[in-house]
Amino acid sequence: MAFPAQFLDELRARSSLPEVIGRRVQLRKKGREWEGLCPFHKEKTPSFTVNDEKGFYHCFGCGEHGSVFDFVMKTDGLSFPETVERLATDAGMQVPQDTPEERHRAERRQSLQDVCESACVWYERNLRMPEGKRALEYLRERGLSDDIITRFRLGFAPNGRNMLKAAMARENVPEGLLVETGMLIQPPNDRGGDDRGEGQRDSYDRFRGRVMFPIMDRRGQVIAFGGRILGDGEPKYLNSPETPIFHKGNVLYGLDHALSMAHKSGQMIVTEGYMDVIALYMAGFENAVAPLGTALTEGHLSALWRVVKEPVLCFDGDNAGQRAATRAAERALPQLKSGFGIRFAELPQGDDPDTLVRTRGRQAMQGVLDAALPLSEVLWRMESGGTMPRTPESRAALQQSLGAHANRIEDPTVRGHFLKAFKDRIWQSGATKTRQKSRYGNASPAYQTITGVDHRTRQSDSTVRCLKILLATLIAHPSLYDQVGERLGSLDFSNLGQKLDNLRQQALKTLAAESGLDYRGLANHLNGTGFADALDALENDHDLGDVFFVRTDAEPAAALCGWEEAYGLMQGKDLDFEIREAERLLAEDPTTENFQRLQSLKRQEFETSAGELADV
Ligand code: UTP
Ligand code: MN
Repeated sequence: MAFPAQFLDELRARSSLPEVIGRRVQLRKKGREWEGLCPFHKEKTPSFTVNDEKGFYHCFGCGEHGSVFDFVMKTDGLSFPETVERLATDAGMQVPQDTPEERHRAERRQSLQDVCESACVWYERNLRMPEGKRALEYLRERGLSDDIITRFRLGFAPNGRNMLKAAMARENVPEGLLVETGMLIQPPNDRGGDDRGEGQRDSYDRFRGRVMFPIMDRRGQVIAFGGRILGDGEPKYLNSPETPIFHKGNVLYGLDHALSMAHKSGQMIVTEGYMDVIALYMAGFENAVAPLGTALTEGHLSALWRVVKEPVLCFDGDNAGQRAATRAAERALPQLKSGFGIRFAELPQGDDPDTLVRTRGRQAMQGVLDAALPLSEVLWRMESGGTMPRTPESRAALQQSLGAHANRIEDPTVRGHFLKAFKDRIWQSGATKTRQKSRYGNASPAYQTITGVDHRTRQSDSTVRCLKILLATLIAHPSLYDQVGERLGSLDFSNLGQKLDNLRQQALKTLAAESGLDYRGLANHLNGTGFADALDALENDHDLGDVFFVRTDAEPAAALCGWEEAYGLMQGKDLDFEIREAERLLAEDPTTENFQRLQSLKRQEFETSAGELADV
């Protein structure tokens, strides 16, 4: 539904942002803004700000940002039209009437849903009739209680060509609508479309002799069906075709039942099948849904993210399940937004959630869910095969493949986080044990890098160390000149003393003049022009003692990774410092300029770490 822009502007102006947000977040007035604990990520000190004049909220912690509409949509899981209606009611405004075409579409939709509803009632009734006896027994054998059968409105389609058709005719349901909803199959005209009426064959029931699972939209209205064969046979499940009211790529089975608990618990379980959703529901997991025999689409992901921040995907513990998980991971990447992700729960080999809860109980399922891994971890395991890369070559290769995944993320903030997390981890795998122990005592390994420099400190000696590494790496690998020469030339070497600065100038000059030099050639030049001492001192500097890529026998690709890492570290440290300054400034003087400056620095921070990996 389209709303006139003027109406939306007025609604925005009339909705008080602090009031709407204040219902969910305790806000404190601070200068011209309000602040509180961010509802989109966990935090102990407030970094969530609301600016009523400008009409937006912003979180400095997680980057979440938006208007009053975004806030209601995200926190209440409502669609845009639902949000507009809610806010209009609050503001005492009348939502404008739709256009005639929209009204017509809505009516048509409603009549198709009415047809599905009539069919559903009839299937339900049949399950309790003599002809449904075997189907009811089948469901009971699978452990379904009467209460669950009623709640999920399971039914039975008797075996016959015209059973539903005849019943619906008695209720005066138009045949055309039954065909349009896919309940009846209309065979194509025998002799082409030229002789109206003549060659038209009769329509007949799509679902025959099957247990019926009605599929509802999020409001609980029946829009389609899945029908399971009793016992073995092919196809096991038959589903409604795509219709004007049923698009498989957007619909999740069980969503109507799952919404309430999902909102309350902030969790949603995504399984593979109808029976999984129902079995989980019986075991107390009332927040499970399933796509309908298709891979998880972008439509599914956005439907999930409207309700929870991190749905848990639970695929069967077999190869097909693993493939489905990989596909889902790849699907999700481009769409990730700040604060929204997916987790992956791994079921025991040969189990699906239905068999797991039935044979091993609720606790076993809970254990599987608790052990779910975040997407970044799944990608890491997928690419690293579960082992830490030991050689520079394997680190470079891993960095490249993980970088390629991360670079598919469209949101720059999230992309930056992924790149940085992968990078930190790869370098962590290269840091030797001695360095982790001796240099920084009990520093957390997550901050430990190949260069031995701690991200969190701003010590001048770490900058000095980085500069030495940058120079020594280029001298050992002159082939990197094209990629790094210019940047090395523009760095400030004044802290290192004249001797090293001169060595740098001479090395760069030599490489600029003569291409194709290797280490031997360059070293000969330097020794022959009076830099033998300087070169010797640099090569024996104990700061470089355990940096593997400054050695001439390291792979050039690894050397480049190392160079970029050291360079990025120096840049990052300066940026860190600037960000802290900007934060301090904003706290003292919360002007728009200071706010925007901090925002732009933060963006730069993510882009820097994104760039470092992307260059490799
Ligand atoms: P499964 O084969 O895992 O079935 O298919 P299941 O859900 O465990 O069913 P039970 O326990 O044997 O009854 C998973 C989902 O794939 C779709 C259905 O949506 C099913 O729930 N599917 C499967 C089909 O659409 N057609 C099929 O023939 C099979
Ligand atoms: Mn199953």
